[in-house]
Amino acid sequence: MNTFTVQPGGTLSGVARVPGDKSISHRSIMLGALAEGETRVSGFLEGADCLATLEAFRAMGVPIERKGPGEVVIQGQGLHGLQEPDGPLDMGNSGTAMRLLCGVLAGQAFDSELIGDESLTRRPMRRVTDPLARMGAQIETSEAGTPPLRIRGGAPLRGTDHVLQVASAQVKSAILLAGLWAEGKTCVTEPAPTRDHTERMLNGFGCVVTRDGPKACVTGGGRLQASSVDVPADISSAAFFLVGASIATGSQMRLAHVGINPTRTGVIDILRLMGADIRVENQREAGGEPVADIEVHAAPLKGIEIPTELVPLAIDEFPAIFVAAACAEGETVLTGAEELRVKESDRIQVMADGLQALGVQCTVQPDGIRIQGGEGFSGGEVDSHGDHRIAMSFAMAGLRSSAPIRIRDCANVATSFPGFVDLARTAGLALEAA
Ligand code: S3P
Repeated sequence: MNTFTVQPGGTLSGVARVPGDKSISHRSIMLGALAEGETRVSGFLEGADCLATLEAFRAMGVPIERKGPGEVVIQGQGLHGLQEPDGPLDMGNSGTAMRLLCGVLAGQAFDSELIGDESLTRRPMRRVTDPLARMGAQIETSEAGTPPLRIRGGAPLRGTDHVLQVASAQVKSAILLAGLWAEGKTCVTEPAPTRDHTERMLNGFGCVVTRDGPKACVTGGGRLQASSVDVPADISSAAFFLVGASIATGSQMRLAHVGINPTRTGVIDILRLMGADIRVENQREAGGEPVADIEVHAAPLKGIEIPTELVPLAIDEFPAIFVAAACAEGETVLTGAEELRVKESDRIQVMADGLQALGVQCTVQPDGIRIQGGEGFSGGEVDSHGDHRIAMSFAMAGLRSSAPIRIRDCANVATSFPGFVDLARTAGLALEAA
């Protein structure tokens, strides 16, 4: 299923529940494994990224059973119950798995090694290994600060008061998780709000995370109590349909049980600023996270200057937002988003190359992009560079294309959105995978 071909035109309609939230699914396995007792997870994302986390904890002696679709039962071993794995732990394509596990492994008594695929092996890791080293961890990276990560066991950790240089939930989470094994208090101050699933879930597992404005703190030496986790549908996966239905005249879709944690809803705010018709209904709480059903109707979009404070709150949704921008009237300008260059691909450059290949004018800047909106896309061929979100974003571009679009290197869609092709086809996208 490496190449996607999407025929031009069509509309999206119907009700869909996209797969479980990736960030919450990773954390459910990690905290479940480190808790005392049995944790039941429902709505778990069975994508390759979260399965890499699941396999890593199995390799460290944690019994984890997959009971049915999205149903996972974890026999937690407590904060001191992990066992030394037989070999390196392979995190595949997942930055979240590698960075959060690095925080967990820094506190263990045994040596370990984290490896990943070609994309992950290019991604910066000093952002986690440097602050962890200041806590006392002993971690080796490549000379370039990239994986593999070799973590020396038995290094005593001490609490820290770390101020993040980049707004990153992965770095914040790695430090807070390491803080579970540290002496005293571990605090992280973030320059802008980022997703707070780790803090919420730690609280749900009985480990108090205190908050003082931008500062979150945990105290070492406690314990985690098993819990149940109901994983909502992933707003980052829903985003492709929010964009697709917005740009395809006549579309109307309802996305069920989507997580609307306020640290994740930047995509809704940005699309609404562009004129999108998105209604958030039946707001409720599930497993410590706010969820809702989201209704989207096609609407004419206009270009905007994207407010920089929304960037961390929509960090994974920019490939899809760029597709919306190409179909909007006028120019869309993104700044303050240099982090996009170190995601699964350089999402500014790879998206710009793809947009240009499909006849869209855009200008790349170090920290963003300017996209000239218009009627849509000319059709043609783009390369996703193995980046799942880029592949799915260009699939949606077919709805406003005048000719077929071929998208290469799409196998990694399975990292975050298993079943994307079938779900998109059911909704009305003329998508084939071969
Ligand atoms: C994630 C945090 C974000 C995001 C990633 C998932 C997480 O990364 O891009 O897909 O689950 O904590 P950064 O922390 O690097 O911004």
